[in-house]
Amino acid sequence: MLGRRAVGWGREQLDLAALAAMESALAAVQPAVVINTAAFNYVDLAETRRQEALTGNFTGPAHLARLATVQGWTLVHFSTDYVYGGDGLERPRLESDPPAPVNFYGYSKLLGEEAILRTAPGALVARVAHLYGGASQSSGRVNLVQRFMAQARAGEAIRVTRGQTLNPTSVQDVVPAVLALLDGGAAGLFHLTGEGECTAGEFAAAVLRLAGGPVNVTELERDPRPALRPRYTVLENRRWAELGLPPLPAWQASLAAYVAQLTGRKPSGS
Ligand SMILES: NC(=O)c1ccc[n+]([C@@H]2O[C@H](COP(=O)([O-])OP(=O)(O)OC[C@H]3O[C@@H](n4cnc5c(N)ncnc54)[C@H](OP(=O)(O)O)[C@@H]3O)[C@@H](O)[C@H]2O)c1
Repeated sequence: MLGRRAVGWGREQLDLAALAAMESALAAVQPAVVINTAAFNYVDLAETRRQEALTGNFTGPAHLARLATVQGWTLVHFSTDYVYGGDGLERPRLESDPPAPVNFYGYSKLLGEEAILRTAPGALVARVAHLYGGASQSSGRVNLVQRFMAQARAGEAIRVTRGQTLNPTSVQDVVPAVLALLDGGAAGLFHLTGEGECTAGEFAAAVLRLAGGPVNVTELERDPRPALRPRYTVLENRRWAELGLPPLPAWQASLAAYVAQLTGRKPSGS
């Protein structure tokens, strides 16, 4: 979507752990905007590899925020709905609601967003959730829609935490939303998630149905994974709406478009 206006850098060009190298690499390029999509987002591994999680989600992004102010560019950073869930409330969260993460990944992402908002008032921090779309640059990593489809092809059941409720978000919706905010000179914290909410099980079932395969989803009462999953982390895009911008698409429509793109099948109803 950005075309030739953007240069994509991976870990080789910009490692969030290499603070001095980051500074000189960015000073040489003199960007107008830096969009940081890197994170230590292995939710379960973050419980034990805490230092790496802090580097990728807190100290690296905090350093980027310092560089943004010193070097004079705008930082765009992504955070997560996993900053919520610990207070047991089951209502959509606004940007003004106090966070309460339930696992170390959420905690490290919260430290990162707080550091950025404190250090670089012109930065844009977008909280997204259950993100899918595009193609990961990491070898062997696929997004959750691709993973569910691969598991279904292999005849495996998709295992999710029973009742985990969130709003799935398509990269295809987030990118234009971020660009619209940048064009409008917006800064600070924004929730940018697909409209509507569902459980992780409903989302997985929708993927499998749209892909035309059997729907084999197991909802686990007790999730054995090392990191606790928050029960309810639905975000409301309140600040986005207050700018008079049209709602992001409903998650069902965006998911249908993405699965159609992956499978070549027409979205149902079209
Ligand atoms: N995926 C979701 O469901 C979800 C939900 C909410 C929020 N988010 C947020 O959205 C953003 C994008 O997530 P994503 O799932 O699209 O990410 P992704 O495709 O997994 O990409 C993350 C990238 O960050 C890289 N990385 C990790 N540590 C790094 C470091 N120290 N220096 C440089 N690069 C490093 C990873 O490289 P390696 O592969 O080499 O580790 C990986 O390529 C993140 O901020 C994430 O926290 C994601």
